[in-house]
Amino acid sequence: MNSPLAEPAIAEAGRAPAVLEGSGLSYAHAGVGTIFDGVSLTVRRREIVALMGCSGCGKSTLLRVLAGLEKPVAGEVRFLGDGLVEPHPRSALVFQQPSLLPWLNLAGNVGFGLDFAHQPKAARAELAERVAAAIDAVGLAGREAAYPSELSGGMAQRAALARALARQPELLFADEPFSALDAITRAEMQALLVDVVHRWHSAVLLVTHDIDEAILVADRIVLMGGRPGRLVQEWTVDIPRPREDFPEAVSALRLAILAALRHSSQ
Ligand SMILES: Nc1ncnc2c1ncn2[C@@H]1O[C@H](COP(=O)(O)OP(=O)(O)OP(=O)(O)O)[C@@H](O)[C@H]1O
Ligand SMILES: [Mg+2]
Repeated sequence: MNSPLAEPAIAEAGRAPAVLEGSGLSYAHAGVGTIFDGVSLTVRRREIVALMGCSGCGKSTLLRVLAGLEKPVAGEVRFLGDGLVEPHPRSALVFQQPSLLPWLNLAGNVGFGLDFAHQPKAARAELAERVAAAIDAVGLAGREAAYPSELSGGMAQRAALARALARQPELLFADEPFSALDAITRAEMQALLVDVVHRWHSAVLLVTHDIDEAILVADRIVLMGGRPGRLVQEWTVDIPRPREDFPEAVSALRLAILAALRHSSQ
């Protein structure tokens, strides 16, 4: 289950094709120095990968580089096989804050930007259908006319997820998307995320500090640590879903990750 990342790559045969391939990535901020160095990470079609690591080790920066929002100082990012120089139209982002536009209603927010020039061209009716399907997928059908100020934190985060899904993403980048929510809403959102990305055939790269969230949601957990940051360990989560039904396996993995997290932040 546990494999050190220094080992040679496992044979590619029989594995899903890669959506995202970051190789040999390094990133530095002027004045701060190297944030991470020599990072290689692949996310395969329909795979949910959780990225963990202590605060400040560079997870959000790595996510931004992999999403094409920042340029690495070394290394390369490929998305669906092509070199990435800007965010790919078949990728989408969800952050801790839902960042909805207050002057647009729910349907307007979910559809916002879908007709921008860099998005694949689609007929107006098709875009409306995509917006409706995404709103339905996150359980907000009937609330299309509601404005952000009328939505609870959980509903706003569902709306942010719908906005991402409406882009029909091959890969969803999510940076601590549920960390501002209460425990019950967070658990609902975790289950919803797994359900919708499986139904919509998307892959996910999820940054989280929550070990339980990572274990419940991810197919693979990657740990970042050190200064500059590197990927130091990974676990394939082969516990059947729903994972709540296997508390002993979840608990054993939680202890292993906790020990590695402690070690990586020393
Ligand atoms: N715009 C910036 N300018 C200078 N330094 C930055 C900038 N953004 C991030 N950093 C630095 O880069 C390092 C990594 O930051 P990053 O936000 O990627 O960490 P993180 O692992 O996501 O942390 P957290 O878990 O707290 O969100 C930190 O030391 C931070 O201070
Ligand atoms: Mg962060």
